[in-house]
Amino acid sequence: MLVRLYALPVGEPLRAALAEQGVLVRPCRPFEMHAVEEWIARTFSTRWVSEFQVAMAHQPCGCIIATQGKRVVGFACFDATARGFIGPMGVDPALRQGGVGKALLVTALEHMRAMGYAYAVIGGTGPQEFYARTVGATVIEGSDPGFYADILPEPGR
Ligand SMILES: CC(C)(COP(=O)(O)OP(=O)(O)OC[C@H]1O[C@@H](n2cnc3c(N)ncnc32)[C@H](O)[C@@H]1OP(=O)(O)O)[C@@H](O)C(=O)NCCC(=O)NCCS
Repeated sequence: MLVRLYALPVGEPLRAALAEQGVLVRPCRPFEMHAVEEWIARTFSTRWVSEFQVAMAHQPCGCIIATQGKRVVGFACFDATARGFIGPMGVDPALRQGGVGKALLVTALEHMRAMGYAYAVIGGTGPQEFYARTVGATVIEGSDPGFYADILPEPGR
């Protein structure tokens, strides 16, 4: 899917509303990588850990996280799978449908816009309705599986 970064919703009110509930949305820092990797592996997959590692291997780092207390409850990567791509992203199952995903997505896209991108590509979309509702993303025809063809299996699966 394609996102127009010049037509994004404003992120600050989304982050402020979550902060009132104790959920902070902010960039991940390199010295937090192990904690986030462990959470992504446990909650999602080691394949997403690989993409997170690439997102964190460049500066400025390409991952926005959501935290609650000292716990990770969400993440959104950019410039990981390929340049200009957003994702993977995910939210703790217990906190879904509460605005965390939208705040992570919009914040990551704001960072991409600040880096000079005009558009972002959502590579592996999963729930397309989520991206269409939150940031007006539209389908890029003929792009499934696109970049994700012929993937090596995850160890042990
Ligand atoms: C997709 C995901 C990140 C959404 O996070 P979330 O915190 O539940 O999303 P939000 O609460 O911010 O939802 C924002 C809007 O999208 C809608 N929405 C959320 N998940 C949706 C879904 N799976 N399908 C359709 N709409 C969805 C919400 O209802 C809400 O709509 P509204 O603004 O009209 O009320 C989360 O469900 C998730 O982690 N899924 C598993 C991982 C995944 O599929 N990641 C994406 C591919 S990399």
